[in-house]
Amino acid sequence: MKLSREELKGLMKNKLMKAGLNEKHADIAAEVMTWSDERGYHSHGAVRVEYYSERIAKGGITANPNFTFKETGPCSGMFDGDNGCGYAAAKEAMDIAIEMAKKNGIAVIGISNISHSGSIGYYTEMAAKNDLAAISFCQSDPMAVPPGGTEPYYGTNPISFAAPTADDRTVVFDMATTVQAWGKILDKRSRGESIPDNWAVDEKGNPVTDPNKVNALLPIAGAKGYGLMMMVDIFSGIMTGVPFGKHVSSMYHDCSKGRELGQMHIVMDPERFVGLETFKRNMSATCDELNAMPTADGYDKVYYPGERAQMRKEKAYKTGGIEIVDSIYEYLKSDDIHYNRYDHKNRFAE
Ligand code: NAI
Repeated sequence: MKLSREELKGLMKNKLMKAGLNEKHADIAAEVMTWSDERGYHSHGAVRVEYYSERIAKGGITANPNFTFKETGPCSGMFDGDNGCGYAAAKEAMDIAIEMAKKNGIAVIGISNISHSGSIGYYTEMAAKNDLAAISFCQSDPMAVPPGGTEPYYGTNPISFAAPTADDRTVVFDMATTVQAWGKILDKRSRGESIPDNWAVDEKGNPVTDPNKVNALLPIAGAKGYGLMMMVDIFSGIMTGVPFGKHVSSMYHDCSKGRELGQMHIVMDPERFVGLETFKRNMSATCDELNAMPTADGYDKVYYPGERAQMRKEKAYKTGGIEIVDSIYEYLKSDDIHYNRYDHKNRFAE
């Protein structure tokens, strides 16, 4: 099913409001999920609406939260999300970070007590569209094993950075720090297919190819990815005072409780460093150089981060709209709020 931007966003917003979320936050959540779906990040688009609706309806996402912000210095502050909509909290905190970085050169905003905030590239892109460079990290539920370990300790803890160029391009890098998402394991199970041996481990910490034996996911690039997921947890979790490491709450467990997640936005004004014009000119030059590089066999082009997502978006609108799975469209159109599918005892929502 292909939908226009307006139709998809409208359906998602209505459903979240029907579940009880206030209109402003429903609008922001629907906007960020549309941003993900139109760029082909379907893992963080409409597929999530039913889960959020269940958590909102059961009280695990505060429908009308009291967001608070405390400036702790000229370039720092703490934003508390009152376990409300993570999308709205992360966006509002980025609005504050943008204003602070424009005024004082740098902004480091810790965000505490939020629910899932989706594709975090949305927030770093906001800064880049304002001629600023930004980094964002956030916690997610424990499902990755450290090298040599046997138990899940860190989440898929994503990292994003974004920067403007001198033209209409924006570099937006946005990735999870595990080799694969848990959803890919479930997908392989349902198809009866095996998985590559670098995706996950069993209960003894040994690599597995049978998706039914998976106990934890592996970090990207071994110990290096483990270090990155720890960095994310330190800056967005330990630094903001929320539960960290294996104490981070599970997405699919007890939908009546707030998730108490942490996130951090770091925003810099290039004007305070090399100068904005030079920064943007050299950002364009680096993108041009990457695009012009001769390619290896089997590759059509070298892309800068975010370029393929932008191309997917343009292609979607040229070919009739955003592709949404039929069953998700039926759910969004229906009067049902949720089907009680996400309140699991099991941390991995099997
Ligand atoms: P991915 O693997 O599709 O892409 C990762 C990055 O690599 C992107 O910035 C992409 O632009 C870049 N990239 C990929 N192939 C490229 C190529 N050939 N040339 C140049 N650049 C290339 O992303 P992943 O890791 O699957 O994450 C998907 C989304 O999930 C992200 O939006 C992320 O923020 C979100 N996420 C959110 C979590 C949360 O708890 N809020 C947890 C984990 C992921």
